[in-house]
Amino acid sequence: MPGPLLATLKGERQPRPPVWLMRQAGRYLPEYRALRAEKGGFLELVYDSAAAAEITLQPIRRFGFDGAILFSDILIVPHAMGQGLTFTAGEGPQLSPTLLEVDLAHFTPAPERFAPVYETVRRTRAQLGSEVTMLGFAGSPWTVATYMIAGEGSKDHGPARLLAYRDPARMQAIIDAIIAVTVSYLCGQIEAGAEAVQLFDSWAGSLAPDAFEKWVIAPNAAITAAVKARHPDVPVIGFPKGAGAKLPAYARETGVDAVGLDETLDPAWAHASLPAGMPVQGNLDPLLLEAGGPALAARARAIIAAFAERPHVFNLGHGIGQHTPIAHVEALLSVVRG
Ligand code: CP3
Repeated sequence: MPGPLLATLKGERQPRPPVWLMRQAGRYLPEYRALRAEKGGFLELVYDSAAAAEITLQPIRRFGFDGAILFSDILIVPHAMGQGLTFTAGEGPQLSPTLLEVDLAHFTPAPERFAPVYETVRRTRAQLGSEVTMLGFAGSPWTVATYMIAGEGSKDHGPARLLAYRDPARMQAIIDAIIAVTVSYLCGQIEAGAEAVQLFDSWAGSLAPDAFEKWVIAPNAAITAAVKARHPDVPVIGFPKGAGAKLPAYARETGVDAVGLDETLDPAWAHASLPAGMPVQGNLDPLLLEAGGPALAARARAIIAAFAERPHVFNLGHGIGQHTPIAHVEALLSVVRG
């Protein structure tokens, strides 16, 4: 018997929506902050399978979410492609050298960096009840490329957008290389025990329509097709944040099983615009969760009501913020669970 999250992703509506939260394993949890302080840094946690499995399980123990998302990061893919990666507290990720400084051929691939992540999936799955779904994930090629090109988070993703216009062949080669590694990484997670996978295209919203077709829809379609060729029964959730009016095309053309909705989308519009019966996931504003109060409960109820006629996974429109009070998560869960 699949748990309620997996059943929903396979198209079966549940009486109450299953729930998990993007970035549920992280800094808003005191037990995460304690383990991070003990181990010294973020990457040290990711590559320590026992610690990473423990962090994956922390939000499940505390809140009983229906899904456990692997504790890792989308930037482990560039690291395994041979790019240098560091996380400095308070500054975000740094990748070096950047793809403005060197070509891909400069990097020495290090696929062995995936091994501890697969081990995290194995250890976590072994400790989860059968009703909790183990979720794997990867960044989508466009979002990962924005970091590989700029070497850091970039506000409007200008360096990657410029490169894509100035040298589309080079951009295509970068995207194709990320596709190949991501397919192997997602299949590795599935073979270790992931029951569904999510593709995070967090910066899809910065692209013009034709660029969105080329750098978001086509690469997500290629990854989905390749993963499904090996694992046809494993649902793929696509999350093209900021897609706006381009979301229905993404949903129709990529082959993903379910789509994640960011907080800017009107759920009534999404319900009317997406293919009938396609599961959706979202779309509470993470800042409303941080603010809390009666508006939080009202909005959560409105989202649930808007998706009464299709499979719905309750989630946020983007990752939970580090300053979110635990009590607000508990209040949200009591609304979602009735
Ligand atoms: O969802 C989960 O709980 C699982 C783990 C997870 C992390 N990052 C852990 C993390 C997942 C799924 C991600 C995805 C991710 N990482 C995305 C896509 C989703 C999104 O939120 O947009 C992106 C763009 C990244 C890249 C990244 N990782 C940045 C820009 C940063 C620094 C800024 C920040 O939010 O801290 C990270 C670090 C990171 N990834 C932390 C965690 C728990 C914080 C590390 C720490 O300081 O302890």
